[in-house]
Amino acid sequence: MFLVTGATGGLGSRIVRRLRQQEKDVRGFVRLTSRYSELESRGVNIFIGDLERDKDIYKACQGVKYVISSHGSGGKPQAVEYRANIDLIDAAKEAGVEHFVFTSVLGVDRGYEDSPVFKAKREVEKYLQNSGLNYTILRPSAFASSLLPLAERFKQTGIYLLIGDPQNRTSVVSTDDVARIAIDSVFVESAKNKVLSVGGPEIITRGDIPQIFSRIFNRDPIVINPPLFLFDGLRSTIGVLNSDVERSLGTLRTLLANEFFCTPEEITNLEMMFDMKMESLESFLRRYLGA
Ligand SMILES: NC(=O)c1ccc[n+]([C@@H]2O[C@H](COP(=O)([O-])OP(=O)(O)OC[C@H]3O[C@@H](n4cnc5c(N)ncnc54)[C@H](OP(=O)(O)O)[C@@H]3O)[C@@H](O)[C@H]2O)c1
Repeated sequence: MFLVTGATGGLGSRIVRRLRQQEKDVRGFVRLTSRYSELESRGVNIFIGDLERDKDIYKACQGVKYVISSHGSGGKPQAVEYRANIDLIDAAKEAGVEHFVFTSVLGVDRGYEDSPVFKAKREVEKYLQNSGLNYTILRPSAFASSLLPLAERFKQTGIYLLIGDPQNRTSVVSTDDVARIAIDSVFVESAKNKVLSVGGPEIITRGDIPQIFSRIFNRDPIVINPPLFLFDGLRSTIGVLNSDVERSLGTLRTLLANEFFCTPEEITNLEMMFDMKMESLESFLRRYLGA
């Protein structure tokens, strides 16, 4: 039995669907308020709970062999990104889980003080590495699936909002490839107790993204490119009214201000380890957008 947290999310839903395609037993940890009927119809064992409740976490781990942590912080980095993952690791250990896969993020080890999510993920990584559990830590770059709503908007309007430096490099990764790697990590011996950077096969600039949309939809892009200092100004203004919101925007700022890409050597290593070819962003988008 696999336990997958964040089973209704961009990554988690792909993991549980893939596991069911392989006819594996999977328990999806979902909230009552989530949309999970499609997963249920695919044979996912639905566990209703809240990751803010440790009792739910301990119960969900009963009888589980593998855990894949793929939930997001839901705007609560301390409670859901940090505490829930620590509880999940403790509960997995108690339940005798054989392998724990944790979804971290590329650049997590660079010490970005402004991002509560990056800090939480780094602390969880360290806790997992010292837990005595077999683990694989995945550090993905931006998910291609996160760009789908922006692509849909581009299709309607031709507009692409790009905050910050268009020359910043990224290696956007197919979310389907991340799902495959998360599952195969528990079976591939060389992935055991490893920290893996996971990115797409090419390094692109953020400015290339509207150009890719333009090719797909055959439409000239209207790129609106406010500089980062405007974002900072807005953030400070919000901070006067609500300091919690200002703090939580630190993760977005970290993502906007920095480069997140994998080296060609890291991608070659990944492709060899998992015997696969990583998909390009353009191929992923064409597949989903039918273009
Ligand atoms: N998106 C990216 O570009 C990217 C890049 C690198 C790493 N990552 C990491 O990859 C992981 C998955 O990201 P994603 O974009 O697929 O996430 P997502 O689509 O935002 O999904 C988040 C999931 O977490 C669940 N969740 C949040 N709070 C919960 C709680 N208190 N109890 C139970 N479930 C809760 C949500 O459930 P509901 O359906 O109930 O809301 C949802 O299923 C995250 O750890 C993220 O940091 C993402």
